Parts: sequence; C-alpha cells; structure tokens
Amino acid sequence: FLIIFIKSKLMDNILITGVGSYLPDKIILNDSLPSELNTSDEWIRKRTGITQRHIVSENELTSTMAIEASKKALINANLNSKEIDLVILATTTPDNTFPATAVKVQSELNMKTGPAFDIQAVCAGFIYALKVASSILQTSNLNKAIVIGSESFSKILDWNDRSTSVLFGDGAGAVILEKYKDYNNWGLLSSNFYSDGNFSNILYTDNGPGTDSKVGKVRMNGKEVFKHAVDKLSSCLIDVIKDANLSIEDINYLIPHQANNRIIDSLSKKLNFPKDKIINTVDIHANTSAASIPLAFSHAVENKIIKNGDIIAMNAIGGGLSWGASVIKFGKPN
Ligand code: UT7
Repeated sequence: FLIIFIKSKLMDNILITGVGSYLPDKIILNDSLPSELNTSDEWIRKRTGITQRHIVSENELTSTMAIEASKKALINANLNSKEIDLVILATTTPDNTFPATAVKVQSELNMKTGPAFDIQAVCAGFIYALKVASSILQTSNLNKAIVIGSESFSKILDWNDRSTSVLFGDGAGAVILEKYKDYNNWGLLSSNFYSDGNFSNILYTDNGPGTDSKVGKVRMNGKEVFKHAVDKLSSCLIDVIKDANLSIEDINYLIPHQANNRIIDSLSKKLNFPKDKIINTVDIHANTSAASIPLAFSHAVENKIIKNGDIIAMNAIGGGLSWGASVIKFGKPN
C-alpha cells in the first residue's frame, strides 16, 4: 500500500479531459448489403447484434475522419489544437504506407511539431495508444496529447466473403490527455497490454507491401477468435481493475471492444458484470477496430450516460492476437 501511495504521489496524473467522434454519413443496413453475399438481416442480428454500419465515401480517408473526431475532442476538452504536443493515431488502415496518418492530423489542425505517429495493434490499437501516450507524457516534458482510433476498415474487406464483410464498419474517435501534478486518482488509473503472435494466423490480412503489392484483405477464423476473446478480455479486465486497487463494483461503466454482442454477453456472465453498466454500440457501429472504444465512449458522453468523475473500464482484443485493458476516472475535478 505504501509503495502505491508513494508512486501515486511521485507520478504525474494523466487526465482524460475530452472525447469526440466522427462517423461517415453513408449507412449500410443489413438488408442493403450486396445480394451476392447471400447473407440475411436475421443471421447478422442473431449471431452478432449488428444492424448497420457506417462506410466511408470515395473522398473520405482515415485521416479525414481522424481530423473531424479530433476537432470535437478538442472542443469537448476546451482546448486549442496549438496546445497539443503529442499525436498518436491507432489504425490498421492508414491513408498511405507512410508517412504516418498521425502527421496529417497534426498538420491539418496546426498542432505543435511534437511527435506524431501511428500505432498498429488492430482492434486493441486504442488501448495500446492510451498506454503509450500516457507513458510518454509521464516521462517527457510533453503535456497534452491527442489519442485517436480511426479506421476505414471497409477498404480491406473481401466483399465476397460473408463471414467477415458483414461484421465491420468505418469511423473515428479521439480523446485528449492532459498531464497534471495534483489530481491523484483521476485519469488513467491502470492499464495493461499483451500480444501472442502464436495466434497471428487466425485473424490477418492475406497481402501487404512486404508480401505483395496488393492491399491485403481480412481473413478470420471467427470461432477461434471468439474463444480467445472471452478468455483474454476477462483476464486482462480483472487484472487492470485489481492493479487500480478497485473491485468490479467500483466500475461505473465498461466499454468493451464492440465486435459482437455474444462476446459482450459472455463477458458479462463470466465476470458477473451487470449488462446495464456496459456501453454497447455494436448494433449501430458494427466492429470499427481501433475506433470502436473511442466511438462508443464518445457516444456515451454525448448521450450523458458517462459523466465527469465516472470510473470507466475498457478492454479490447484483435489481430496479433493483441489485447489489453485500461481503467480511468474520466474528466477533471471541478
Ligand atoms: O475485432 C476482432 C475480434 N473479432 C471477433 O471478435 C469475431 C469473433 N467471432 C465471431 O464473432 C463469430 O465467430 C462470427 C460472428 C464471426 C461467426 O459466428 P459463428 O456462430 O461462429 O458462425 P460460424 O462461423 O460457425 O458459421 C455458422 C454458419 C456457417 O454455415 P454452415 O457451415 O453451418 O452451413 C457459415 O457459413 O453460418 C454461415 N455464415 C453466414 N450465414 C449467413 C457465416 N457468415 C454468414 C453470414 N450470413 N454473414
């Protein structure tokens, strides 16, 4: 206890002071999916809970969505973009192989010339980015960061494969991190992240710049991923809550990765976590990979479900396999 107390006194607190999101205007309902897919609204709803997904138009990019989400997060945090000195963007679908999509956001929003880079941890990308950003703030003279999850996942889907194409959507979400000295027990309270490359063959793209000049398309062994998802999402969540010196009852809301209602329901049952304290946007957003948690987070804040001072747990898993969890106390003391 003494060590935790001393550590919390010495470490700066990384507060999450704003959140924002962006969704493309174009919505595809289950019934409007290409008929060649030979799928049905009934199958998709029953197996996943998804009813629709937003899809980018021709002139929308991962960067354009990230920029719009960032503008909203800055307004929500009451900050000017010129105050931001670190940009981290989690994505699997960058605009180009390089430069990082994060530098486009930095330049478009006239941010400082601090570091700006992308993180590739697929659906766990936002959890990874949150941990990396807070660690950088705590160990440098940088003070304010924007952490974004943005994905144009529709561009890497095989639209002839019904077992994957119906599951995903596009969008972006962003949060603002600010470093403070004396706000103990606010902001990022604990976080963890893991990878196990032994399972890289159950969720991957089949091409890429290193293997072929073609853009790789998503391939997934859904049943295998499902099994790992429930186990790993619960274990990293239990660990992160324990590390924060909290118990499950202290968590006001859980924002799990928005992949499938059946995974979320299994998680809720396994941990005895009440379903009415789980933020769920699977039905309207589908699986937006790295954008899924910040999109759901933003949705809950906009709808006044999550409020200043709430304790929020988040957990995600995706290709890699890579997974992890965070616990935060949202906002800023009044
Ligand atoms: O973000 C990364 C994390 N990813 C995930 O969390 C995904 C995890 N996995 C899943 O969510 C589920 O495994 C799926 C939703 C992908 C699939 O559900 P499932 O209950 O595991 O179905 P299945 O793959 O065993 O397929 C059952 C049947 C098959 O037909 P047969 O062999 O029983 O005749 C599939 O061909 O459903 C068929 N099927 C479909 N039918 C209509 C698969 N996709 C579709 C479809 N529409 N879209």
